[in-house]
Amino acid sequence: MRKGIILAGGNGTRLAPLTFSVSKQLMSVYDKPMIYYPITTLMMAGIKEFLLITNKEHLNSFKNLLKDGSQWGVNFQYAIQEKPNGIAEAIIIGEEFINNSPIALILGDNLFHGTGLIETLIDANDQDTGGTIFAYQVRDPYRYGVVEFNDKKEALSIEEKPKKPKSFYAVTGLYFYDKTANKRAKAIIPSRRGELEITALNNSYLQEKKLRVKTFGRGMTWLDTGTFDSLHEASSYIKTIEHRQGLKVGCPEEIAWRRGWIDEKELKDLAKPLNKSGYGSYLTSLIKYKRNINRFGIN
Ligand code: TTP
Repeated sequence: MRKGIILAGGNGTRLAPLTFSVSKQLMSVYDKPMIYYPITTLMMAGIKEFLLITNKEHLNSFKNLLKDGSQWGVNFQYAIQEKPNGIAEAIIIGEEFINNSPIALILGDNLFHGTGLIETLIDANDQDTGGTIFAYQVRDPYRYGVVEFNDKKEALSIEEKPKKPKSFYAVTGLYFYDKTANKRAKAIIPSRRGELEITALNNSYLQEKKLRVKTFGRGMTWLDTGTFDSLHEASSYIKTIEHRQGLKVGCPEEIAWRRGWIDEKELKDLAKPLNKSGYGSYLTSLIKYKRNINRFGIN
C-alpha cells in the first residue's frame, strides 16, 4: 500500500505577518484550512496512511486539527522538519514511516482540482515501479522545476528555477515514487542554495528512464497558495465552484464517506459541531440526498 507524505513546513515569508504565528498551510482557502486540499488529493488517490511533516512551532496546531485521522477513517502520524532544507528531505525524515513502501508526496500549499483528476490519481497510485510527476502550463515557469519535452511529449530534462526555461511546463507539488525513493533521496547532494532539491530526485528517476511525466491540460486547475494574491485567488476559485455546484471541493469527511471509510452515523457525528458554519449541514445533506454517488464521487 502506498503511503502519503504531506510536507507543510517552510517559513511562509511571502505571507508575513500572517505567518508570524500561524502556519501558512492552516490559513483559510475559502471555507476550510489549506491543508485539507492536499490531504484530500491523496485520499482521492486511495491513500489512507499519512505522515504530516511541519516545523516544531506549528506541530500542535496540526495535531489539534487533524488528530490521529481515525475520524476520517485514515491514519495521521507527525514529524518535524527543523529547517526548510528542501522538499526531498521529507523522504529522509519519513524513512521509518515509509518502511520500504511506495509513496506519494504532496506540498501542503498545493491545490488541485478539475476534470479527470481522480482517475489520474488512481492511475498514478496503481504504478508499482518508477516515479510519476505532473507538469502544468504556467505563465511564470522560472519559479518552478521546468520540464523540457521532445515532439513525442517525452520528458528530456528537468531544471530547477531556470533563468531561461525550456518550456512553460512547471512540475507541480505532487510526486508518486516507488520504494527506491528513500535511497535516491539520501544520495542527493545539497544544491547551491543548500537544499535537497526534489528536482534532483526527479532527475535520478529520469536518467534511468523510470520517470513518467504526465501533463495536466487546461481543464485542470493547479494553484499554489504562497502569496497574498494567490491565497485570495484560490479562495475566490473555491467559492465560485462551490456556490455554483452546491458541492464542496477538498472535503475530507465527504471523501471518507464516499469511499466507505466512515459510515453514515460517523458522518452525522462529524457534522454536529460544524452545523453553524454551514459545513455541517453540507455533510448531512450528502446523506439526505445521496447525491452524485459513484466510485469517483461524481455523476
Ligand atoms: P515555498 O513556498 O517554496 O516556501 P515557504 O512555504 O517557506 O514560503 P516562502 O517562500 O514565502 O518563505 O514552499 C512550498 C511548500 O513546500 C510549502 O508548503 C512549504 C513546503 N516546504 C517545506 O515544508 N519544507 C521545505 O524544506 C521546503 C523547501 C518547502
